[in-house]
Amino acid sequence: MTRNTMKVAVFAGDGIGPEIMAEALRVLDALNLQGLELTEGLVGGAAYRAKGHPLPPETLEIAKASDCILFGSVGDFSLDNLERPLRPEQAILGLRKEMKLFANMRPAKVYKGLEHMSSLKPEVAEKIDLLIVREANGDVYFGNKGIRVLPDGRRQGFDDMSYAEDEVRRVAHTAFRTAMGRRKKLCSIDKANVLDTSQLWREVIIETSKEYPDVELSHMYVDNAAMQLVKDPGQFDTIVTGNMFGDILSDQASMCVGSIGLLASATMAEGTYGLYEPIHGSAPDIAGKGIANPMAQILSTAMMLRHSFALEAEAKRIEAAVEKALADGVMGGDLGGKAGTREIGDAVLARL
Ligand code: IPM
Ligand code: MG
Repeated sequence: MTRNTMKVAVFAGDGIGPEIMAEALRVLDALNLQGLELTEGLVGGAAYRAKGHPLPPETLEIAKASDCILFGSVGDFSLDNLERPLRPEQAILGLRKEMKLFANMRPAKVYKGLEHMSSLKPEVAEKIDLLIVREANGDVYFGNKGIRVLPDGRRQGFDDMSYAEDEVRRVAHTAFRTAMGRRKKLCSIDKANVLDTSQLWREVIIETSKEYPDVELSHMYVDNAAMQLVKDPGQFDTIVTGNMFGDILSDQASMCVGSIGLLASATMAEGTYGLYEPIHGSAPDIAGKGIANPMAQILSTAMMLRHSFALEAEAKRIEAAVEKALADGVMGGDLGGKAGTREIGDAVLARL
């Protein structure tokens, strides 16, 4: 499926977001794709400063009028004292909710020659090639929450954890389909020994598995999964888990890889609508210095071409160019190298 127009919402965000987005857009531009239309919008702290809200209505309109979102990163320490609905992170949570982006996919793979970047022993790290499918629209993130005063006067914080079966089923289908395209192994991570939410999660995963007889399904409790991820990450192919467990385990997986400046992610809605972003944050400490590594942003663009526009060949071209640049020793400070943002962009462009 190729389209006549490909409308991309470009939300660069805060910190290093705009610098690394600029390099990703240069790479996109070099591909000369017919019908590509980019529309920029403000998100995060940048949007709060200009419009008083991290996800202003005009930005949401751009998202709705587009086929996908290319996202930079949001976060700004100087705004951390705002009440939570106005903080920069609300841009990403708001987009997940409003655009029904329910399947967050975070591949973690160690690049050859970069095994030493991992926090694990190189011989353990080199085996990492996994993908976490994290549910992103439900769970304790979006439940009823608050701080209330009990009859005896004590304050009590609460956040309801819940999953409806259809919420589990749709992410289960995404996960099984993803596993089919990989090594056909799916591990569902939950806490079914304690939580009823997890009990239903597990039942629905098992029901859904009947439609995917070729996929080998296993289950693991989240505490054990945290251990197994550092002990023997090579045992995992595709993982599916809820919003909260996935938040934690995906950061852990990225450190097992080490080179967080290389990890891209996609958060998909039903169909081909998706939001593509690097896994790393807005890194305000190095913003504006021209030293941020744009590779994860560039690789997010490749994921966008693959998942939203079915442009597999173009996606591979970008990924190969990044891999070639790394193999040739073009590395940013995050990988112990000296290459700056622009220089890395140039190096990838030269190898496209
Ligand atoms: C992530 C982030 C977000 C989350 C924050 C910024 C709200 O940690 O994308 O993993 O918790 O989902
Ligand atoms: Mg997180």
